[in-house]
Amino acid sequence: VWNVDNNDIEKGEPLLLQEPTMWIRDNKLIAFPTETVYGLGANALSDEAVSKIFYAKGRPSDNPLIVHIGDKTQLNELVADIPEVADRLMEAFWPGALTLIFKAKPVLSTHVTAGLETVGIRMPSNPVARAFLKACQLPIAAPSANQSGRPSPTTAAHVLQDLNGRIDGVIDGGQTGIGLESTVLSIVEDTPVLYRPGGVTKEEIEGVVGPIGVDKALVSTNEQPKSPGMKYTHYAPEADVYIVEEPKHFHSAIQRAKASGLRVGVLASESYKEAHESIVVHSLYDLAQTFYYTLRLFDEKAVTVIFVEAVPTLGVGAAIMNRLEKAAGGKRL
Ligand code: TXA
Ligand code: MG
Repeated sequence: VWNVDNNDIEKGEPLLLQEPTMWIRDNKLIAFPTETVYGLGANALSDEAVSKIFYAKGRPSDNPLIVHIGDKTQLNELVADIPEVADRLMEAFWPGALTLIFKAKPVLSTHVTAGLETVGIRMPSNPVARAFLKACQLPIAAPSANQSGRPSPTTAAHVLQDLNGRIDGVIDGGQTGIGLESTVLSIVEDTPVLYRPGGVTKEEIEGVVGPIGVDKALVSTNEQPKSPGMKYTHYAPEADVYIVEEPKHFHSAIQRAKASGLRVGVLASESYKEAHESIVVHSLYDLAQTFYYTLRLFDEKAVTVIFVEAVPTLGVGAAIMNRLEKAAGGKRL
C-alpha cells in the first residue's frame, strides 16, 4: 500500500509513485484512486497483464475494460477516428467522469476490448490518478477494483477487502469523491448514445452536444445492453436490497422485517431510529458518494435487509437509480 494524497501531488512528489509505476511497467496489477471509484490497473498493451485483471476479479471475459490515459496526446495511438463531437465532449468533460467509446486501433491487448471493434477511453481528473497515469506513460486498462458482482470500491480498504492477495498493490488516495462509476457514452454512431449513466449527467452532456440517444436496455429489461457489463447483476451486497418508492412505507417495512428476525439497514433522507443501522443523506451528491460505501458498511454490520429511498432520475439521480435497480434486482416497496 502506498499512501499518496492530493497534497503530495501538488508538492510534486511523483517519487512516491515510482514503485507502483515500475510495477505497472512490469505487467503487475496496481489499484489506484480515481474521482469515481478505485480502478484495478494494468498495462493495456500487454495480454499477460490484462488477463491478470480478469483472473483477479473473476470477471467474465466478454466484458471489455476502460482504458485510462493521463494525457490527450495518447488518444491518437489508440483510436482510429476522433469525430468532431468527441472533441467538444473532451473539451467540456476531460479530465473527468466521462468514458467515450471510439473505434479502436488494433494496438491494445484483445482482452481489453473483449473482441469488440470499439474501445472505451477515459482521462480521470483525480490528481493522484493523473500523476500515476502520466508517470506510467502507458495506456492503463482498469475496471472498478472490486470482485465481480460486489459493490465498487470507494476506499483502498474496500479494494483490499475484495482483492487482497490477488493484486500486487494499491495506491491509497483516500475516499473517492463521486462514489459511482463514470458515464459511458458511445460516439461511433451518428448521434452519441448513453450506454451507462454515471458521474457526468445526461443533462450536462446535452448542454454541450444537444439531444443524445439512450441505450434501449436502460429503459427496458427486454433489450440486450450495448455495454456488456450492464447485463450482469452487479453491485450487490450480501443483504437483500429493496427500493422504497414511498417514504411512508419505511416504518411498516422496518417493523415487518424486524418481526421476522432480520437486521435492518436504511439509507434515506431521514433517520429511522428503529432500524439497526440508519444512514441519512442530504443531497443527491451525498447519496451517490455514500451509496456503495453504505452497502459495504451494512455488510460489515451484518445487516440482512437494506431499504433505500428512491430518488428522481434527474442529474446524477439517473446513475443512482441505475445502480440501485441492479443492487435490488428489481425488488421494490
Ligand atoms: O468510473 C469508472 O468508469 C471506473 C473507474 C475505475 O474508471 N471503471 C469502471 O470500469 O467502472 P468497469 O469495468 O467496472 O465498467 C466498464 C463498463 C462496463 O459496463 C463495460 O461493459 C463497458 O464499460 N465498456 C467498456 N468498453 C466498452 C466498449 N468498447 N463498448 C461498450 N461498453 C464498453
Ligand atoms: Mg465495475
